[in-house]
Amino acid sequence: MKKVLITGASGFIGSFLVEEALKRGYAVYAGIRSSSSRQYLQDSRIKFISLDFKNKSNLIKTLEEFNKEHNGSFDYIIHCAGVTKANNIQEFYDINYEYTKNFVEALIETKSNVQKFIQLSSLASYGPGNAETLELINHSQIPRPVSGYGKSKLMTEEYLNTLKDFPYIIFRPTTIYGPREKELFTVFKMVNSGFEFYIGSTPQHLSFIYIDDFVTLCFDALESNIKQRSYFVCDGKTYLSSEFNNHIKKALNKKTLKLTLPVSVVRGLAFTLEKTFGLFGKTPALNSERVREFECTNWTIYTEDLFQDFNFKPQYFLERGVKETADWYKKEKWL
Ligand SMILES: NC(=O)c1ccc[n+]([C@@H]2O[C@H](COP(=O)([O-])OP(=O)(O)OC[C@H]3O[C@@H](n4cnc5c(N)ncnc54)[C@H](OP(=O)(O)O)[C@@H]3O)[C@@H](O)[C@H]2O)c1
Repeated sequence: MKKVLITGASGFIGSFLVEEALKRGYAVYAGIRSSSSRQYLQDSRIKFISLDFKNKSNLIKTLEEFNKEHNGSFDYIIHCAGVTKANNIQEFYDINYEYTKNFVEALIETKSNVQKFIQLSSLASYGPGNAETLELINHSQIPRPVSGYGKSKLMTEEYLNTLKDFPYIIFRPTTIYGPREKELFTVFKMVNSGFEFYIGSTPQHLSFIYIDDFVTLCFDALESNIKQRSYFVCDGKTYLSSEFNNHIKKALNKKTLKLTLPVSVVRGLAFTLEKTFGLFGKTPALNSERVREFECTNWTIYTEDLFQDFNFKPQYFLERGVKETADWYKKEKWL
């Protein structure tokens, strides 16, 4: 039985990756912290492992013990642990970049025979596409992240690109949505209460991918012969931000009041929320980093290589995915 380690297994994406790994018959190791929730990790086949990404010597010790006890290392790793919001930029660099570097160095130093390492980067690492031409963001674009989050993801990509023998695949997903997701959930909540918000008057061109399609893709990539490649990831379509809201309205059978807020107002709101949440050591979903990304109007991406190399056939486009997500939020009484 091949052993797969999924770091960040307690999170939105990680918990679905764990389920897919179980379905595909892997020996599944969920990388979590002692403080992590196990709400979606209840299957008795899941084995848990705690990795101290902050400390390379501790990581080496844990990996050596694992390799000895199991007569070999993990066969596959999907590195999902990371932060999408943080109290300060340093936190992004530490967790998304330094911790990943520590982890990969520890894998190399322990001569772990990992056959594939999937790194969850982000579209944010490249930054937005051209707002005038609306050309799809593609590999020939010079990366210009607009957020600390994006910069930290780019640094990690640049580090991995220096490793000539390490079997990585970098995925740069756009927004991933689906059941259990807590950030876009705020949009569902707003529509449910009768409001639809837009930032600035220029329509945003966006891309999305539904969680089920994303986890299928990750495992198809894991099981493929491809390595040392990077891909932008979405369902292959481009959408207007209004389409997302329209599908939510339809799914929830709601009418809404449309409100367009000037960017300056949203910036001010984000600043106030940050200060207020900061008092409790938390980061709000709407923060300055996010606003810098929301201000950009082209987040559409090139995916021909992705579709071709992994024979990727998404099963969910926005309407179906939003409906499934809304149904789940309702079933779980989130809405
Ligand atoms: N969601 C998206 O739309 C999207 C798009 C592109 C890329 N990504 C990337 O995908 C990955 C997972 O995202 P997600 O949406 O699933 O986020 P999430 O729900 O917030 O999950 C993040 C996971 O990382 C773990 N983690 C955070 N800080 C850690 C630390 N210091 N040490 C060890 N583990 C830590 C969390 O553990 P705890 O539960 O203990 O906090 C959690 O399991 C991230 O790397 C993110 O950048 C996400």
